Amino acid sequence: MIVLDKVVKRYGQNLVLRGVDVHIKAGEFVSIMGASGSGKSTILNIIGALDTDYEGDARVAGRDLRALPDREVSAFRNTTIGFVFQSFHLLPHLSCGQNVAMPAYFNRSLTEKDIARRVAECLDRVSLTHKRDEFPLHLSGGERQRIAIARALFNTPKIMLCDEPTGALDSKTGAQIMTLFESLNRDTGATLVIVTHAPEVSELADRIIHVVDGQIAQKSGPERD
Ligand SMILES: Nc1ncnc2c1ncn2[C@@H]1O[C@H](COP(=O)(O)OP(=O)(O)OP(=O)(O)O)[C@@H](O)[C@H]1O
Ligand SMILES: [Mg+2]
Repeated sequence: MIVLDKVVKRYGQNLVLRGVDVHIKAGEFVSIMGASGSGKSTILNIIGALDTDYEGDARVAGRDLRALPDREVSAFRNTTIGFVFQSFHLLPHLSCGQNVAMPAYFNRSLTEKDIARRVAECLDRVSLTHKRDEFPLHLSGGERQRIAIARALFNTPKIMLCDEPTGALDSKTGAQIMTLFESLNRDTGATLVIVTHAPEVSELADRIIHVVDGQIAQKSGPERD
């Protein structure tokens, strides 16, 4: 599902990724760990086609990301990838339901009825149906993250990319979010890639990828198959 082959990333003179090889199978739950500045978010941004300025090869869901025209890159992102970030990235002037429906702005083929149905399904998935018309500021941190996850689920992505999704939450709330991710991975078969500093998060994964100074150091943990 995800193949990075000798991926090199530079910011000017700064060599940030020094030949990264990553293979992640469909349906796998993988965590990425490593020191601050080691290149974890950079790897996630390349997998998610937020960054197409790299050397080497990246194939995600069968596509060579650098070969796609810009227009198709955004369509690919919107339909194939669900992003979840540490700081939620919800729009404060929109209700929770409207936030979940954000991906619909980039998919003009959906009717109002389709959108409402999908929003209801996604809110149900994160057990926040009753917050549909509330605004994010009136929610707890854990609830905000669940709304962000519902938004990421809107287009039933094949791949969920999560950058420190529990980093802004207390440990109990973080554990609830991880239970939700585990059930999503199990029930939807979505490939789950979670960048985390928290050992209790990464030990839930099938496999841990360790990044050290822009390179993959070692892999550990049981393989699922
Ligand atoms: N937009 C940018 N411009 C220049 N340098 C950048 C940019 N983004 C990241 N870098 C550099 O790339 C390196 C890797 O950054 P990255 O964000 O991938 O680290 P990280 O492992 O996610 O760290 P953290 O755990 O702190 O989030 C860092 O040295 C950083 O300074
Ligand atoms: Mg980071």
